[in-house]
Amino acid sequence: MIKSIISGMGSYVPPNVVTNNDLAKIITTSDEWIFSRSGIKERRYAGEGVYCSDLALEASKKALEDANLKPSDLDFIIYATLSPDHFFPGSSCYLQTKLGIDKTGCLDVRNQCTGFIYSMAIADAFIRIGMYKNILVVGAEIHSNFLEFTDLGRNVTVLFGDAAGAAIFSPTEDEGRGVLYTELHADGKFAKSLHMDVWDISHKPFITHQDIDNRNIWPKMDGKTVFKNAITELCKIIPATLEKNNVTMDDVKYIIPHQANLRINQMIAKQLKIPDGIVLNNIEKYGNTTAASIPLLLDETYRAGMIEKDDLLLFIAFGAGFTWASALMRW
Ligand SMILES: CC(C)(COP(=O)(O)OP(=O)(O)OC[C@H]1O[C@@H](n2cnc3c(N)ncnc32)[C@H](O)[C@@H]1OP(=O)(O)O)[C@@H](O)C(=O)NCCC(=O)NCCS
Repeated sequence: MIKSIISGMGSYVPPNVVTNNDLAKIITTSDEWIFSRSGIKERRYAGEGVYCSDLALEASKKALEDANLKPSDLDFIIYATLSPDHFFPGSSCYLQTKLGIDKTGCLDVRNQCTGFIYSMAIADAFIRIGMYKNILVVGAEIHSNFLEFTDLGRNVTVLFGDAAGAAIFSPTEDEGRGVLYTELHADGKFAKSLHMDVWDISHKPFITHQDIDNRNIWPKMDGKTVFKNAITELCKIIPATLEKNNVTMDDVKYIIPHQANLRINQMIAKQLKIPDGIVLNNIEKYGNTTAASIPLLLDETYRAGMIEKDDLLLFIAFGAGFTWASALMRW
């Protein structure tokens, strides 16, 4: 039976490091407040004139090189982001042309923090049915240009950073390897718990000067509701995923979680009694990079030589929507 494996990984972060102390020069905050609540020390900002698809391109080039493939070998592109280059067309089309190819099908996935796992599920399904062979899945974000750098938005601003991560999914007939399982959920009644009011397509025009004056152009978050629901749902989806696949936590080499908040991942590990060293984190260096966080962490772990063939990896994510998801993969 055909399944999908990751045949190449890559990631890219912009060089500009912004520490908590740097932010404290612009808004009323402190390294102590940010680190104690989120585990974040610093993040990267892409700066003026850089598009999300530029970051995606750098990560994609590395993933292609790692897979020993050329852009023309790609059969399909899936691009997960909440910070697309423009309202339309999708950023996957911009990425495609930057890769120097045309005709390849392109799909944008707008699932925020679960974007990479949702995209993995789609890539896996396409490969299983034999529709495509090599699928590029990218998660990329430029948050820094739509964060509110005033005290009114500081609860959101301090958490997010810019990054991109990419994986090439390819078919394997290797028994037991590849994507074994994905589980995708959403509950739209929490849409307003983490959202942005513009664009508001129910109004003509869909963005006004008043929207800017009223701060509707900035993301809004009810942090406590996000925190509580993330822990509740992730503590349910982890055991459910293991049980449905007849494996236990002892079989899992690493959990690669979305990097929303170190405290969320620590509380999950504590509640589920997961031994130290299983749940991986790198939020300290990059903040929350939404769709990029899982491929960025996976790429770092892979390039550090920590993953071996046949290791069992569990991916989990929770974010805006609310959406949450898991995936089990034998490397
Ligand atoms: C964002 C988060 C760290 C805030 O922690 P919290 O304990 O809920 O903090 P609150 O929002 O209640 O604010 C507590 C106080 O700190 C202040 N505050 C908020 N942001 C601050 C900042 N960056 N620096 C300093 N003080 C800040 C608030 O104004 C408030 O002050 P007050 O008590 O005088 O009113 C936390 O709710 C969280 O991590 N939630 C999950 C977020 C998440 O994962 N989002 C991404 C999902 S993909």
